[in-house]
Amino acid sequence: MNQSLLRSMENNIDPDMEKGKVSKESLNKSRVKNTELIETSLPLMRDIYKMVEGTGFMVVLCDQDGLLLKTIGDKDILKKANKISFVEGADWSEETVGTNAIGTCIKERVPLQVVHDEHYMKICQEWTCSASPIYGRNREMIGVLNVSGPYEKVHPHTLGMVVSIARAVENLLELKEKIRRNELMQSYLEATVNSLTSGIILVSLQGDIIQANKTLLDMIQLGEAELIDQKIEHVFENKLFSDGVSIFGAIKDRDIRLRFKGGKSPIHVLLNSKPVYQGQSQIGSLLIFQEIQKVRQLVNKLTGNRANITFKEIIGENALFIRSINEAIAASNSPSNVLLLGESGTGKDLFAQAIHNESKRRNMPFIAINCGAIPRDLLGSELFGYADGAFTGARKGGSSGKFELADGGTIFLDEIGEMSLDMQVLLLRVLQNREITRVGGHKVLPVNVRIIAATNKNLKEEVQKGNFRHDLYFRLNVLPIKIPSIRERGDDSQLLASHFIDLYSRKIARKIEAVHPSYMEAIKKYNWPGNVRELQNVIERSLNRVTSDILSIDTLPEEILSIYEQNAPHNDSNSTKNMIQKQMLVQVLLDCNYNYSKAAKKLNISRSTLYRWMERFNLK
Ligand SMILES: Nc1ncnc2c1ncn2[C@@H]1O[C@H](COP(=O)(O)OP(=O)(O)OP(=O)(O)O)[C@@H](O)[C@H]1O
Ligand SMILES: [Mg+2]
Repeated sequence: MNQSLLRSMENNIDPDMEKGKVSKESLNKSRVKNTELIETSLPLMRDIYKMVEGTGFMVVLCDQDGLLLKTIGDKDILKKANKISFVEGADWSEETVGTNAIGTCIKERVPLQVVHDEHYMKICQEWTCSASPIYGRNREMIGVLNVSGPYEKVHPHTLGMVVSIARAVENLLELKEKIRRNELMQSYLEATVNSLTSGIILVSLQGDIIQANKTLLDMIQLGEAELIDQKIEHVFENKLFSDGVSIFGAIKDRDIRLRFKGGKSPIHVLLNSKPVYQGQSQIGSLLIFQEIQKVRQLVNKLTGNRANITFKEIIGENALFIRSINEAIAASNSPSNVLLLGESGTGKDLFAQAIHNESKRRNMPFIAINCGAIPRDLLGSELFGYADGAFTGARKGGSSGKFELADGGTIFLDEIGEMSLDMQVLLLRVLQNREITRVGGHKVLPVNVRIIAATNKNLKEEVQKGNFRHDLYFRLNVLPIKIPSIRERGDDSQLLASHFIDLYSRKIARKIEAVHPSYMEAIKKYNWPGNVRELQNVIERSLNRVTSDILSIDTLPEEILSIYEQNAPHNDSNSTKNMIQKQMLVQVLLDCNYNYSKAAKKLNISRSTLYRWMERFNLK
């Protein structure tokens, strides 16, 4: 109290002041800011008021600066308070009115009682006031609760009562904050769970469905009412849900057909479960369902089981080649099997993808399998999948094969000529019946798959040699498409070369101004046993070897150069090679405005060599 008195005197407050200071504007501002404090405190203030009603006391709520926000009291006491401006909007801080319960409580941060002449201002001295701070989160003061009345009625219990009501306000505010946070958390969780692409069911240990997310309801096409609070074994027919154990253990990637009571058609899903614990004991299980179709689409996306190529990206103008392209386009929308025939590197892969992308199946999977690259005894399970327990180490629940993965789409059986005779029998059965049986399994699964096969072998010969089944050949050979080799494609080698030069120069960010004519001559002369793949590789390597912006013949590999040299005329002054070299030299000199050092640089030769060339071609 003494400290407060000293402060009040230092602040030069006039103890004879007749009224406090009131501001309507500050009141309105503070009420808006403190809406929650007021709403929370009011019912409790009314409660204490009821206790002191008729005893000449009033209850006051202030903001953290000592501004009176709310007063409750008898008419008489309010009138008395009005005389000294102890009213809503009044500033009762210590800085303004000197020692008083509200202002000093704020300064000292403790509950306190100010009685009679302990008040600094004379006009307050008929009063006794008890004030307690109200704290918010992080212990910052957010307001003051005060009870005032005639000084002769002072009682220490009043302060105790004010303190406990202030605590009650604090608790209530904290509770409200918790509820608000819980609601936020709840809507956050709901949004998260409903945005998952997996369907989720929460079951209690008694088998009651407690909760399911929106994805699941959409997936199984049932309403919430048909699911929530139902026994899980009443909704689904699979034994797994009724044996009382399975779903409460941890299930990992179990491939099941989810069957419903009541005859709805089953859904093919992947099931995972996760036990839910309370402390040490399990109280339920979280069941996570993923639709196989969707999983496959995702797998296909991630593993590149997609066709990227369209016919637009296949380069070639040669008539024979165009004929193959047209046959392939025509085959795209036929359901019949396609057999692509062609030497290695002619573009069989490209054709298969383009056919798929041109067909109605373009948005479904395109699954390629290289029959020659997979060990013979694994090809069966690769193609058809395997059943649960098909062999030691087989995954629980089995695994789907490429035919199942390609369901609705296209399967590309590359190097079909390498397939073993046993496998050919199985494949034939699939082609005939359009259904598969997993290795080691009994269930027959229908598949809707378009088949494109390819080989660089002469299958007819293989049939004659007894390496390939005649009936399978007959089934696959419905729409044969022969892709010509580069040797058969005339000028397409140069067209393809230009295309790849363009492609790779951009890729390695090297500007190529011109291609030396001898370069293209060499490309044309070579017979490309590895076809387009070889050409593509040669060009890529050649571009990595260029040192100037003119692509010259010396960037080509030895075997191509030697073929070129064998056929090229000798270095006579009249030879074509020299003609070409002369043309190029003239072109470069013109381009460089006869600036010799520039021209030499562009040709990647020294200046003296340039002079020699010019002399040789009579250009000096
Ligand atoms: N007409 C073409 N236009 C553009 N690029 C092509 C063309 N033909 C083939 N290619 C390219 O050549 C390479 C080989 O093509 P692809 O893999 O389709 O040949 P393939 O006949 O399947 O060969 P293999 O028999 O060795 O499997 C690929 O990189 C492909 O992009
Ligand atoms: Mg291929």
